[in-house]
Amino acid sequence: MRLSLAEKASLVGAFDYIVLKTLYSLRGKSEFVSFNSLRKKLDVKNDEELKISLLKLNELKLISKDPTEFSFRLTFSGLDILGIKMLYLNRILYKLAEIIGEGKESIVYHGYDFDNNRIVTKFHRVGTDSYKKIKFRKDLEKKDWLSITVENAKREFDALECIRREGGYVPKPLGVQYNAVAMEHINGKELYKKADTVNLKEILEKILETMRIAYNICNITHGDLSPYNILIDESGTPFLIDWPQATDSEEILKRDLINIATFFKKHGIEVDVHKMFDYVRGVS
Ligand SMILES: Nc1ncnc2c1ncn2[C@@H]1O[C@H](COP(=O)(O)OP(=O)(O)OP(=O)(O)O)[C@@H](O)[C@H]1O
Ligand SMILES: [Mg+2]
Repeated sequence: MRLSLAEKASLVGAFDYIVLKTLYSLRGKSEFVSFNSLRKKLDVKNDEELKISLLKLNELKLISKDPTEFSFRLTFSGLDILGIKMLYLNRILYKLAEIIGEGKESIVYHGYDFDNNRIVTKFHRVGTDSYKKIKFRKDLEKKDWLSITVENAKREFDALECIRREGGYVPKPLGVQYNAVAMEHINGKELYKKADTVNLKEILEKILETMRIAYNICNITHGDLSPYNILIDESGTPFLIDWPQATDSEEILKRDLINIATFFKKHGIEVDVHKMFDYVRGVS
């Protein structure tokens, strides 16, 4: 039987959680952490207790075992559990619910906060696609997947926080722990599904206003902006989502703007990319 993430989280006891946390803290030195290093770091008196916990975590696929040695590493699901637990302890996420989106680099869940409001938790995962993209970046060469994933979550949270604080249209961020970003739930649909039923001019204005805040105040551009990453809520307000690849590159800003311009042009809205570019950079 395949257990859900919430079910797995409920099966992780206090000691199992410490084992997961310790595996995370020992990441990066080598891919797998040996039983001995783990034992030393945890300072356990009883090897059996540690063995039982490792077997259980392995069974739950929260860790995986080196095929030849008695060594272990945290899986992305294991990282998810650390995120869930810390969001819970910080009173941000009370309960996870169903999956609402499974992208190339994340799994997005509905959930509830402690006041029973609907929220969203996005668990980042860095997959092979992004590996191709970042393979040649020298600064990332020595990093392990868990660290890159956690950095992506933090980058997304920081982008949401700055843009929202400055009045841009993004979901309100609620917290970030490990690879998990909790945020406001937007009750709506992606822009590409709504193009025929909304006021596109107003939406474009709000998108550009948000990009101007992002670029001028927060020093970032989205990096993957498209009608797939813009949600339109029931009142017709756009929300720009999916910010882990935010960068300060002017070239990428231009690409983001061209993507947006192409979509609006196709739907009969007059756009001038040069004017948009100047506006977002704060030149006009
Ligand atoms: N705050 C939110 N409120 C409501 N739905 C959301 C929210 N954030 C994400 N979603 C849903 O989850 C989907 C995936 O989210 P997001 O684009 O951030 O992740 P992703 O990993 O980049 O996915 P993809 O590879 O499909 O772009 C969105 O298209 C949207 O349907
Ligand atoms: Mg997306």
